Amino acid sequence: MPRGTYYFPDGFLWGTATAAHQVEGRNQNNTWYAWEQEEGRIAEGHQSGLACDWWGGRWREDFDRAAKTGQNAHRLSIAWSRIQPAPDRWDESALDRYREMLIGLRERKLIPMVTLHHFSEPLWVAEMGGWENEDVPELFGRFVEKAVDALMPYCDLWVTINEPNVFAFSAYVDGVFPPGKKDLKVALIVLQNLVRAHARAYHIIHDRQPQARVGIAAHYRGFKPATWLPPDRWIANVFHTLFNDLFPRTLHDGVFNTIYKRYRIPEAAGTQDFLGLNYYTSDLVRFDLLAPSKVFAHRTYPEDALLSESGFIAHQPSGMMACVKWGGQYGLPLIVTENGVEDSDDTLRPRYILEHLHALWQIMNGNYRVEGYFHWSLVDNFEWERGWTQRFGLWGLDVETQARIRRPSADMFAEICRKNGISTAIVEKYAPEALQVLFP
Ligand code: NOJ
Repeated sequence: MPRGTYYFPDGFLWGTATAAHQVEGRNQNNTWYAWEQEEGRIAEGHQSGLACDWWGGRWREDFDRAAKTGQNAHRLSIAWSRIQPAPDRWDESALDRYREMLIGLRERKLIPMVTLHHFSEPLWVAEMGGWENEDVPELFGRFVEKAVDALMPYCDLWVTINEPNVFAFSAYVDGVFPPGKKDLKVALIVLQNLVRAHARAYHIIHDRQPQARVGIAAHYRGFKPATWLPPDRWIANVFHTLFNDLFPRTLHDGVFNTIYKRYRIPEAAGTQDFLGLNYYTSDLVRFDLLAPSKVFAHRTYPEDALLSESGFIAHQPSGMMACVKWGGQYGLPLIVTENGVEDSDDTLRPRYILEHLHALWQIMNGNYRVEGYFHWSLVDNFEWERGWTQRFGLWGLDVETQARIRRPSADMFAEICRKNGISTAIVEKYAPEALQVLFP
């Protein structure tokens, strides 16, 4: 067996990613809090509650954990609902709190990346129709002005919208996110308004902070046809085009092309300084005429795939390479803004991380410029409609006591960050089952 180290480029960003509603706790003025109060919306009736109690100050100990384990960056989000609790009211104390958090990151030598929209809005925005309302991009812009004015001394790496595709499809096609609609046409309207909101935010940030780097965190899901049959190939391609490609392509050329209809959004053209990639897994897709509510697709995982604890994610590291290849076509620097797996006893996570990073390393050597990797997530946090049933943290969380439980993956990730690479010794120590893949 050969021995060696897969090194990443100097200055590579190594961090974890989090989102306001999932970690802060006591966030009661937004769409997700209201959704959690409705019966049957969240698995096992779970609620975000205190979450990881970051609003109560426990971000300090978690940032310490990140810094002490060799990470050099952290991606977090700020909550619009806290900063602008009502249309005519700004909460300066919320901005102070976020300012403190960003200073806290800087003091620990963690480069902040700030997300401006991560799946939740203020209730007053929902009351006016949420992202279906074409006035919302402008209102989002006002929030961005306020937030960026306050926080730009501490941050110049911004994600405007997290996973616009997952947000629009989950909230307006699958109906599992608020407002729980099931209408593809509405989802397409929402996506266009999100494009406008992104474009507005991009220009607002650059007007104030010319050196800023602004992008989105795009969720890429692999869609492979289940067979060679043309209908399966066609539907897999439709999914790729509408789910993966539509949003970033619009930000590239200013044309929102739904295959059937094209809408021009010229202000969106060229509004990305980098492309953030969230990659978790890939599907096999079969055309199914009897499934109009599922957009005529039957999606499964390969029978032999290793599955995460609840079956939510299939371990398919080759999809990471496909993801980077796809993202690379836009000619922008790339950053992996999320990748991870739910695994409370940490049996799959070490292998999952190693094989995904190995796939990333391989494709980077094909001359793709990837500047960093943010693991999802630092500590177990509230997993949306799946509540606390899924555990994505390098540290576990006891929701009752707020105790953090260090998983072996935290130590493994620390060794990788410190080495800026993956050595044979790391693989032997944490996931010998991956040796045959990394060091055959
Ligand atoms: C992507 C989302 O951005 C994040 O909020 C979520 O927790 C992870 N996927 C895992 O499901």
